Amino acid sequence: MEKLLSMPIKEVLTQYPNVGKILQDYGVGCVSCGVGTCLLKDVVHIHSLSKDEDAELMYRIEKEVYPDRDIVPPAAPAAKKGAPQSRKSSRPIKCLVDEHVTIMKLVNLIPVLAETTDISTAAGKQLIMDAVEFIRSFADTFHHMKEEDILFHYCDHQSDIIQAMLKDHDTARGYIRAAVHALEINDKDGVSSNLVAYAKLLTEHIKKEDEILYPWIDRQLTPLQTAEMFLKFNEVEGKSDAAVAKCVAFADTAGEKIIAQKAVDGESHKG
Ligand SMILES: [Fe+2]
Ligand SMILES: [Fe+2]
Repeated sequence: MEKLLSMPIKEVLTQYPNVGKILQDYGVGCVSCGVGTCLLKDVVHIHSLSKDEDAELMYRIEKEVYPDRDIVPPAAPAAKKGAPQSRKSSRPIKCLVDEHVTIMKLVNLIPVLAETTDISTAAGKQLIMDAVEFIRSFADTFHHMKEEDILFHYCDHQSDIIQAMLKDHDTARGYIRAAVHALEINDKDGVSSNLVAYAKLLTEHIKKEDEILYPWIDRQLTPLQTAEMFLKFNEVEGKSDAAVAKCVAFADTAGEKIIAQKAVDGESHKG
């Protein structure tokens, strides 16, 4: 079992596909993660299962992998599966979760923005660039840099999950660069496909951070580290006050702007 626990999750799932189904029963959703280099034991550890859940999960995996072994079942079955132990987030982590809410306001609008905006008009182009400006200023420069320059240094920076998050940030930047390039050459499909890919990636990325990464880091923080991180976040927020306020206002009104632009485009096509 020790050997199995030290195997990369991707290898485990390739050899024993049913282990993926068992993990999903406990809310461990690594089956869809594209990285797969995390070790099975780290994957289980990071999801913070209760002692009972952990024992039951290990028993089920061992039974799946070694069906002929005589394995003793855990003493008591887990009362509730798939629900990490609830714990109130620390203040700095709560700030990051709140920023995700703002980011998702815009991300959720991206499919309709990409589909309906006429990029052959100056106003349509500007609307796309306003969304790009929000993504670059708020989601990336402000939020992702808080994670990269501060948060991620409060845990093992080389760990697979942090490396996976950094890779997501880079991939997201690539989609936005490609969307802007497509806009410059009036390639509507290029704009649309890259923005939609960005929205899909960010939605999954934020879910992983909210549900797995942030609680995992939060559990490791000492009160002193929490206070120190909060001060560092305050410093970043102090420097970016005006830009952040502008971005938050844009996220709050982007839906109306998209509808208004669609109406203008519809009228001009009629004419
Ligand atoms: Fe992130
Ligand atoms: Fe984030």
